Amino acid sequence: MPTAAPTAREIAALLAEARERTLLLVSSVPEAELMSQHNRLMSPIVWDMGHIAHFEELWLVRNLEGPVEFGEMPGVFNPFENPRSVRGQLALPALGDTLDHMARTRRTVLDRVLDGESGAADPGLVEGGYVYRMVAQHEYQHDETILQALQLKDDGARYRAPRAIAPPAPRPVPAGGDGMVRFPGGMVEMGTDDRTAAYDNERPRHAVEVGPFRIGAWAVTNGEYARFIGDGGYERAELWSEAGWKHRTEAGLAAPQFWERHDGEWWTRSMDREMPVDPARPVCHVCWYEAEAYCRWAGGRLPTEAEWEAAASWDPASGAKRAYPWGDEPPTALDANIDQLAFETAPVGAYPRNVSPIGCYGMIGDVWEWTASDFAPYPGYRTFPYPEYSEVFFGPDYKVLRGGSWATRPGAIRNTFRNWDYPIRRQIFSGFRMARDG
Ligand code: AVJ
Ligand code: FE
Repeated sequence: MPTAAPTAREIAALLAEARERTLLLVSSVPEAELMSQHNRLMSPIVWDMGHIAHFEELWLVRNLEGPVEFGEMPGVFNPFENPRSVRGQLALPALGDTLDHMARTRRTVLDRVLDGESGAADPGLVEGGYVYRMVAQHEYQHDETILQALQLKDDGARYRAPRAIAPPAPRPVPAGGDGMVRFPGGMVEMGTDDRTAAYDNERPRHAVEVGPFRIGAWAVTNGEYARFIGDGGYERAELWSEAGWKHRTEAGLAAPQFWERHDGEWWTRSMDREMPVDPARPVCHVCWYEAEAYCRWAGGRLPTEAEWEAAASWDPASGAKRAYPWGDEPPTALDANIDQLAFETAPVGAYPRNVSPIGCYGMIGDVWEWTASDFAPYPGYRTFPYPEYSEVFFGPDYKVLRGGSWATRPGAIRNTFRNWDYPIRRQIFSGFRMARDG
């Protein structure tokens, strides 16, 4: 976790790198396809691009002139005034104007940084460089959103993914016979007090008592999930919660999203690549209800958020907490399937360094992992710097996901990072890991 305030050069490099990635991701997409909405769950991609620029302007330009309210984000790009489902009907600026706006905003930001202007309304915003990492993280998160939209593009003009690295070959994963490792239980510390990068919903660091539990040494694989399907998992109401069965029936769920049966074999697609479903990779594009039903079928349950975080970060032998499963160094391509450029999942256990103190592999990267928990504030939570990031989403409607996916940028993931979504959503890069008591 960074601690010192970044220098002006570091701020410029941080923001430039974020923007290079955004532009790389969209560079192979024709303008008309960036302007149109592919799916009502997602925005037209130019909306994400314009919103990225407006968010930067709000926090790194206007905020320096006085306190800002998130609601000041102008009409078209305000996510609350215009939910995703209507964004296809908005009069959006053309691609060229959007790129211009992004570039001009960045010019203004860098002029301010160069002049050493950091007279933010709230000094806590610039302390330790928080507001700059917040803006970079926001762009990283919208990059993942853009990839969700591109994965949904199935109109004969699929996204040409600029693949820069192939996933590694499988490796055997050490675990007990049931594929699980044990956490002994006890007091663990959840969350963080970091104020340089962590979001408000990750704070404060606080003690939680967890009972002994077992948890998958790997995320549930396609092979394991296919056995659930083969055993009638989608037809047996007793495996589903009431809400889950209702959704499974209404939505006609019968397999993970993007799975198709051809000549008795499951096929799937990651961006523009079609492939037979690889039994060694984690299942992806399942909703919370599917994860819940699988776990009931397999004689387990989803881990709570506290269990997930303990399994990823806590060393029961020393009582020390790690920022990432392997230690405190941020992820690189050596450590995990992260940072987008593989454009697909990798076999579970393929990254030998991606292992937590108790022996859980792959907790960072590949697929977001659904947890049993609702998105709720930690005890002592304080909104910072604006309620529209976390606070307005707290409550029983959203389930928490942990760990990031292949489409997550390294600066937007850590053991304490909390993502959330509705339990019916599966266009996100979502899988899960199973737990059991004891
Ligand atoms: C944390 C992924 C749920 O996309 O709604 C982007 C991230 N917040 N802009 C979302 C976010 C503001 C957020 N999630
Ligand atoms: Fe946003």
